[in-house]
Amino acid sequence: MKTVFSGIKPTGNLGLGNYLGAFKAWGNLQNEYTCIYSVVDLHALTIRNDPQTLKENSRKIIMLYMAAGIDPQKSIIYLQSHVPAHSQLSWILGCHSYMGELSRMTQYKEKSENNENVNAGLFTYPVLMAADILLYNTHVVPVGEDQIQHVELARDIALRFNNIYGNILVVPEAKTASKLTARLKGLQNPTKKMDKSTKDPLDTIFLLDTEAEITKKIKRAVTDSEARVYYDTENKPGISNLLAIYAAITNKTIEDSELDFQNKSYGDFKQSLIEVVLGELNPLQKEFNRLSQDTAYVDNIIIKNAQRAEEIAEKTLAKVQNALGIGK
Ligand code: TYM
Repeated sequence: MKTVFSGIKPTGNLGLGNYLGAFKAWGNLQNEYTCIYSVVDLHALTIRNDPQTLKENSRKIIMLYMAAGIDPQKSIIYLQSHVPAHSQLSWILGCHSYMGELSRMTQYKEKSENNENVNAGLFTYPVLMAADILLYNTHVVPVGEDQIQHVELARDIALRFNNIYGNILVVPEAKTASKLTARLKGLQNPTKKMDKSTKDPLDTIFLLDTEAEITKKIKRAVTDSEARVYYDTENKPGISNLLAIYAAITNKTIEDSELDFQNKSYGDFKQSLIEVVLGELNPLQKEFNRLSQDTAYVDNIIIKNAQRAEEIAEKTLAKVQNALGIGK
């Protein structure tokens, strides 16, 4: 079986962007692929975190993975910092990456503007991400649109490495869940990405939001004055984004979604969307809450899965070290 690898950074609470753009689809891949899903806590260190909060956020994501249908017996779900090979391979790959290509990364450019803490980790972030992917002989990396450039860099690094040292690394490919939700927009700023680290709490629906919060956020979502529900990202970014959410959750096409609201008001549309979002998130939250009570079970999953991940990662690292003439 081919391997799927992906990860989420435990900064802030996960939002609908992360869910519809990425990990809602991850559970479905489990029968076709060997799936490995990481909580990339080392990547979270490019910003300053409260240690206790970081720990809790990481654990929450492990539980959300499970609540979203990822089976920890079948797939591997683990914390990146529990597998030292990530940092070890990252250094090696960093010595095979160029300042020029790292400087061209859009995320680096965006995050280094308007930011007081432009640390070296922000710059080498995609190298660590390449190490994550390449350690597990990954074929497919399911991500949202904003991470495609990083996966392409991982491809370039793998190809470069193989050219020098022989066929050692598997060359990965990025895959987005669906065009519609590959870059879900904010509810208040529908031309910008919905971001879990947003400063405007009305902009993002968080997966653990209460019914009242979800209702309020959708009711307040920015629309336009035309009062007709149809998809046109250029002229109607707000309504189009809400339609994308509706279509993604109900598994309908955009055309069928538009038909559902022909001759309906924005108020009616929003009410239906509220019901659809609550219908999707309620079971997820219930399962999350159940898992939160079962500390011993979750602890055990975290420990056992890290061991499974480490076994694979160590093998790749040893091959790479051997090719370079380093290591034991
Ligand atoms: P992160 O934690 O920012 O986001 C996790 C996943 O959610 C996707 N995503 C979105 N998709 C659609 N619309 C949005 N508004 C939206 N916001 C976020 C992201 O594209 C991502 O798939 N660098 C990565 C984490 C990472 C990783 C990896 C991913 C580290 N190593 C190896 C894949 C493979 C990140 O910060 O994602």
